[in-house]
Amino acid sequence: MKPLFTIISLVFLLHQRADCQQTAQAVLNGKDAKTQISRHIYGQFSEHLGRSIYDGFWVSEGSAIPNKGRIRTDIVAALKKIHIPNLRWPGGCFADEYHWRDGIGERTKRPKMVNTNWGGVTEDNSFGTNEFLELCGMLNCEPYISANVGSGTVEEMSKWVEYLNFDGVSPMAALRTENGHPKPYKVSFWGVGNESWGCGGSMTPDFYSDQFRRYATYARNYPGAPLKKIASGANSDDYHWTEVAMKNIGNRAWGLSLHYYTVPTGNWGDKGSATNFDEKQYISTMRNCLHMEELVNKHSAIMDKYDPAKKVAMVVDEWGIWTNVEPGTNPGFLFQQNSMRDALIAGTTLNIFNNHADRVKMANLAQTVNVLQSLVLTQKEKMILTPTYHVFDLYQVHQDATLLPITIQSPDYMVDDIKVPAVNASASRDSNGVVHISFVNLNTKKMTVSTVLQSVDYKSVQGRMVTSAKFTDYNSFDQPDKITVTAFTGAKKQGAQLVAELPALSVVILTLKK
Ligand code: AHR
Repeated sequence: MKPLFTIISLVFLLHQRADCQQTAQAVLNGKDAKTQISRHIYGQFSEHLGRSIYDGFWVSEGSAIPNKGRIRTDIVAALKKIHIPNLRWPGGCFADEYHWRDGIGERTKRPKMVNTNWGGVTEDNSFGTNEFLELCGMLNCEPYISANVGSGTVEEMSKWVEYLNFDGVSPMAALRTENGHPKPYKVSFWGVGNESWGCGGSMTPDFYSDQFRRYATYARNYPGAPLKKIASGANSDDYHWTEVAMKNIGNRAWGLSLHYYTVPTGNWGDKGSATNFDEKQYISTMRNCLHMEELVNKHSAIMDKYDPAKKVAMVVDEWGIWTNVEPGTNPGFLFQQNSMRDALIAGTTLNIFNNHADRVKMANLAQTVNVLQSLVLTQKEKMILTPTYHVFDLYQVHQDATLLPITIQSPDYMVDDIKVPAVNASASRDSNGVVHISFVNLNTKKMTVSTVLQSVDYKSVQGRMVTSAKFTDYNSFDQPDKITVTAFTGAKKQGAQLVAELPALSVVILTLKK
């Protein structure tokens, strides 16, 4: 046994020497695991925007597209498969112009409104509170409602909570019963405004903090329905906002939000195409995506000052890539394709959130269907699953699992003057003792990762992955399965190490069983 082991180690070392640029070294610590990765990190967001609700989830009366009560059943089945834990609604910017009472009762009698934020289209309010809760019931996910602070009132939010959560005799409970739902829905997640620094009212953090305190006071915890109130948080690196909000709101809120979008060019005027870009733009996009790590660290450090026990959750309730819209589509509808680059962004960002699970307790990809970085795209009766969807499929094993700290020393992937670590990772142990490691290889060349496993016993290793030859590859309605989940067989136990050969541009998940 001994000489054989020595030969294997030698071969391994020679291989490493010859190919040292392409080898990343990782250490996985299975011993001191204590943090749970909240399943809510895998949350979703659907706004009344473009074709997200209308022509997405919600079909027209009498539509031939299979539906249940006008909710598309193919989308529901796809999302159920990946166990989305929560859905944020009705916005976004739309939320701060939305008056929930316009969206209940007899549909033909509901007032219409102009969706001023998104294309100036007429909103007929046919999809409202009860329809949203019906959808969440079908998806088996928790609703996350964003209440109107910008143009709403304290009374309006307070009554919305009563309408959804009060079990007893009250005007709002009676209205809910009239609308066919005598039992309360018991919605826990409530956003108190959205982007209150911008489309949600252009407030200062001091003014918003006072508003939060007023709104939160009258958003009541009814018996059996305690609320998790989420304060509107910073835009990207606005650390001042976090400072003021933590000082003035602190643990009056269950969570404080953070919004950050990956813009390929870094220029909001011309963000770059979703599918037509070169390697320079690919790497600058990944650098911009990795900025999330710095944001989470710096906002966390401020939160730690006021909340060292980490009771207030960081809620990254809008994230994802934001590109130019597809040519010929309504600029106000934010419809973009989803490429292999999006899959790498999803894997990388979810690794960041997993690794910060002690503070990041919730996150919401923007947006689930037909808007920005979607999981699902539709074209009339057709539906395709995006590369991003397949990454959420792979990563669902991390939901509610215990985080296993993993450190990784990775060679850089470089294009001209831009460099990023080629490989990133996160890992967890599920309730059955099964360990999962997710690796993302951003490099256009294959990479080897050698992982030392501390206090992790396993007999077998299996893998699944999402990969494609080009970062610009995508699933189209003509070729819906160009990028999908495939088996990964490139991982082996080599002595004390687990060695994985990651294909270029890949998101890989390894399953280690005893
Ligand atoms: O997700 C699209 C928009 O981005 C949201 O409505 C808003 O909150 C953010 O600016």
